[in-house]
Amino acid sequence: MKKIKVHSPGTVANLVCGFDILGMALSEPFDIMELSLIDEPKVIIHNKDNFNLPVEAEKNVAGVVLLSVIERLENKVGFEIAIEKHIKPGSGIGSSAASAAGAAVAANHLLGKIFSNDEVVQFAMNGEKLASGVKHADNIAPCILGGVSLIRSIHPLDIIPLSSPDLFVTIVHPQIEVRTSDARQILRQQVLLKDAIRQWGNIAGLVTGFLKNDVELIGRSLEDVIIEPVRSILIPGFDEVKEKCKEAGALGGGISGSGPSMFMLSKDKNTAIAVESVMKEVYTRIGIDFNTYVTTINKNGVEVVV
Ligand code: HSE
Repeated sequence: MKKIKVHSPGTVANLVCGFDILGMALSEPFDIMELSLIDEPKVIIHNKDNFNLPVEAEKNVAGVVLLSVIERLENKVGFEIAIEKHIKPGSGIGSSAASAAGAAVAANHLLGKIFSNDEVVQFAMNGEKLASGVKHADNIAPCILGGVSLIRSIHPLDIIPLSSPDLFVTIVHPQIEVRTSDARQILRQQVLLKDAIRQWGNIAGLVTGFLKNDVELIGRSLEDVIIEPVRSILIPGFDEVKEKCKEAGALGGGISGSGPSMFMLSKDKNTAIAVESVMKEVYTRIGIDFNTYVTTINKNGVEVVV
């Protein structure tokens, strides 16, 4: 095989209470990437979108991932990649992870699947490091594996795929810029024991809710007393959107990754659409441009399409 095409999905990291340790894949939006093997050990990048991302491999998220793959190969080859991004960079729905994970999975396929899933995650995390300054896998793991992932540890890597009910996901992306690196820098480095206890309860409740298909438990566990109170200040309309979405029937939700997107989970499609209307109403009134998606949890992760 010399050429491959993949769809690489958006993801919601943190899932409110699970900062850096929980994430889920989305059915929409997704990036489209075409990867070919070339003889020379280098990476050639073609952007097929309007985001003007760098084409120098060392400065491009997919590029650094592919360079790290080449470094590991005994019989050196190179890659040519065409990237058509539909997940807007900086949106908070795993744009950099989609580039990184898509490139890593596609490269592994072209090379005859010589690397394990954990190794593919490791390669992809090099892209996250370039994008946000830190290696975290809460977007990468669900992007590659699909569904909901628990990242118990990244040193050593310990990823636990979780089953989940078939929930609907509504996303709103207010068009403001929140850089992940900034959204990490403003966080407090110390946590009160009482807050840690509440957060542990919520994380355990959320994981149990996913495993037992208990949507009410999922809903009441979507609470974050550590990160959200700090980060939500960066997102205009956050409190109002959250409150009104719950009134419209959402189980719960919050900031998607480091924002500015917000996500809400719902039991059925009609509720997810009602939640979308609430989001549209709030941001139209505030006067901030936005995109919305009504989608589902993607069970497959990065998918080979050709
Ligand atoms: N867990 C990361 C953060 C995700 O919240 O900073 C970034 O997409």
